[in-house]
Amino acid sequence: MNCLAEELNALLDGAAAGRLMSGLGRRLYFPKGIIAQAGEAKKSAHRGNATIGMAFQEGKPLILSAAADAMPGLKPEEIAVYAPTAGIEKARTLWKDLMIRKNPSLAAGSISLPAVVPGLTAGISYIADLFLDEGETLLASKPSWDNYELIGAERRGGNFRELFFFNNEKNNEKNNEKGLDLAALKKSLEEEAETGEVRIIFNFPNNPSGYAPTQGEAEALVRLIREIAENGADVLAICDDAYFGFFYEDDTFKESLFSRLAGLHERVLAVKIDGPTKEDYAWGLRMGFVTFGSKGLSPVQYDALVAKLMGAIRSSVSCSNTPAQYLMLKTLEDPRTPGEKEANYRLMLKRYRAVKDFIAGHPPHPNLQPLPFNSGYFMTFRCIGVAAETLRKKLLAQEGIGTISFGNEYLRVAFSSIDEGQIFSIYQAIYAEASNLAKL
Ligand SMILES: Cc1ncc(COP(=O)(O)O)c(C=O)c1O
Repeated sequence: MNCLAEELNALLDGAAAGRLMSGLGRRLYFPKGIIAQAGEAKKSAHRGNATIGMAFQEGKPLILSAAADAMPGLKPEEIAVYAPTAGIEKARTLWKDLMIRKNPSLAAGSISLPAVVPGLTAGISYIADLFLDEGETLLASKPSWDNYELIGAERRGGNFRELFFFNNEKNNEKNNEKGLDLAALKKSLEEEAETGEVRIIFNFPNNPSGYAPTQGEAEALVRLIREIAENGADVLAICDDAYFGFFYEDDTFKESLFSRLAGLHERVLAVKIDGPTKEDYAWGLRMGFVTFGSKGLSPVQYDALVAKLMGAIRSSVSCSNTPAQYLMLKTLEDPRTPGEKEANYRLMLKRYRAVKDFIAGHPPHPNLQPLPFNSGYFMTFRCIGVAAETLRKKLLAQEGIGTISFGNEYLRVAFSSIDEGQIFSIYQAIYAEASNLAKL
């Protein structure tokens, strides 16, 4: 093993982060090669910086006019120059400041500096690289975003398992209670904890259900994770906060679970994966952040963890997109942004309310049972007596309505992408086609 990897491992070995690390995670390191040497030179090479494979003239990067003209708000060095492996310092510190503002309970604890990755997907994939080995189990909600399985099972060879999270699932007798099925979750997590290690993704607001825990449910989840850690299991808690901020009800817990898990217990390694993709309406920007939090980790240990992540970044995409980071910085610093975000949030809230009104204004559909939803971009029906995929195809072919099926059990509707005025008629069509299908 490379001696730099061994040095990082030695720093992390006594901590949950070290114990949970995969074989690949243990082998990764950030080389003291081109990038590190060029970084040193950037600070002190005042005569001439002959380190890196970029082309400069009189201190400015060479750039083609078409690229420069297409991004008039950015300087050539904000477009063409490689970004540092873990991202532009200012983007990282600004995101951390915002994260603490959005999650006040984080202020007291210690967390790493967020590292920039090319989108949340990349962040999840890197964390799976670092912490999931072949045959190890990765838990998520049932249903969950389909990319978790692709990353956890197909890419990393892990054992991907979806747990009953939501209260009106068929394993639950108390069908009228909406929210998290904490009893089912406790049972599954305690069973998993018997292996000595738990790796779980919390995705709130959830894709596809559109659910985020209430205050009480969040407290109960945190208590459960603490108990598991106190009983001796190491826990990797990945918080995929892609839809953070889209909370529509008063009683919802409006911070990331990360803010409570980051300093919870020495055996808990919390990882926050977030970014501007959904929060800041920048889906194509391909930019995300990974932040670590674990009780008792020192700044040197956080640096070691980030160095492991930098090894994953350097060995795959080398670094993230530079203009994306500057565009994000400009967006977050622009005085128009808060007002526009508020207006967009109101738009989403109205759509959410229109869906709730439709459902409340109709008798329960015998074939379509909404999973609990109170947040995010989506809501999902559990299909009973009709196959979700058949319904999806029928809606598309006969009504011109696009939805997403998750297997044959769930049909997801992204109310985020339909205008409020269309919601009633679209849901009417969904109800009608489900009834027609059930009659066949
Ligand atoms: C739960 C969840 N996480 C992550 C992502 C991906 O984010 P990004 O586009 O930044 O890779 C999505 C996108 O649909 C998502 O639904």
